[in-house]
Amino acid sequence: METRYLTIRREAPDEEIMQIAAALLREGRLVAFPTETVYGLGANGLDCAAVKAIYLAKGRPSDNPLILHIAKPEDAARLAREINANARALMAAFWPGPLTLVLPRRDSVPDAVTGGLDSVAIRLPNCPVARRLIELAGVPIAAPSANTSGRPSPTTAQAVIDDLAGRIDAVLDGGPCGIGLESTVVDCTTPVPTILRPGGITREQLEAVLGEVEIDAALTQPKETPRSPGMKYKHYAPKAPLFLFEGEAEATAAALLAEVKAALGRGEKVGALVDETTALLLPQETVTVCYGPRGDIKAAAARLYTALRSFDRQAVAVIYATGVAEDGLGLALMNRLRKASGYQIRCIKGGVDHG
Ligand code: TXA
Ligand code: MG
Repeated sequence: METRYLTIRREAPDEEIMQIAAALLREGRLVAFPTETVYGLGANGLDCAAVKAIYLAKGRPSDNPLILHIAKPEDAARLAREINANARALMAAFWPGPLTLVLPRRDSVPDAVTGGLDSVAIRLPNCPVARRLIELAGVPIAAPSANTSGRPSPTTAQAVIDDLAGRIDAVLDGGPCGIGLESTVVDCTTPVPTILRPGGITREQLEAVLGEVEIDAALTQPKETPRSPGMKYKHYAPKAPLFLFEGEAEATAAALLAEVKAALGRGEKVGALVDETTALLLPQETVTVCYGPRGDIKAAAARLYTALRSFDRQAVAVIYATGVAEDGLGLALMNRLRKASGYQIRCIKGGVDHG
């Protein structure tokens, strides 16, 4: 199949193009579109065949459920049989935006969407292209990130094309995504809401509204079985092995530099993902990709997935990356980096490597 490439202004989407894309969705076809987090691969969420086509195009395991995207908060009640006070408070505070709520499902939601679970994940995105598309389609839109399963999520239309050209009907190019990491997934079916996947809405923001939130044990102990099925799969991985250095910035930079030099000495093509200050230290032959200024976590989040993809294009043999502090958006960023590393992590303290 030929993938149609439709360019669209993100802030003022051209109505004619939006109509074309919405018509494709209504016909059961697959359309990739921008959101404020990452690009999504959309299909009519009430059409089983269309939903199954998403799994096929991505090579996604069928037990990994999809998020249904809606255009207005009232639409949630058609998909969820109960919306409790916590869920209502979160909707009021963060919708539209990068927050997905897991709620008890209604029978009308296809099993193909929920992977047979008794819950359904719902999100109201903030990007004008996404919202208009869902509105015009007139149905909830099932949309995972628009990457081949296991690859870093796409934050540009080009990244979608790199993975899915010929496998989907259209991509709407609305430019790069502002946040660059996926939405926060919060399970609202537990007495205290639980973060299943950290993302664009921070733990601190959630706590300010709810008072208390839990974090799924699997996020801190990788051996636990995650309650969000998607979190158990290898994910966000570049092709080369990635080693993550965590710890105080200066000491971590020094340890990373030593490792880069050793690998270059072995004749390897080395990739480094570091802040601008650390980048200045690295030998010229390093394939260096910068997060941005040291401590600027927003910039780092927005660049992470394009950085991981650029290492694939440059065919490096190994990647060394530094971590960031885990507060705010840093929690989500570190979650993705740790998974991308396959938990090959070196904790650096005060210049001494504690392995
Ligand atoms: O920012 C985002 O959330 C993007 C954009 C396109 O909206 N979407 C996205 O979808 O990241 P996906 O499919 O790549 O990730 C959805 C996550 C998976 O980890 C999945 O297991 C989890 O949400 N999920 C979906 N339904 C669930 C449910 N009923 N219970 C628990 N986890 C669920
Ligand atoms: Mg994904």
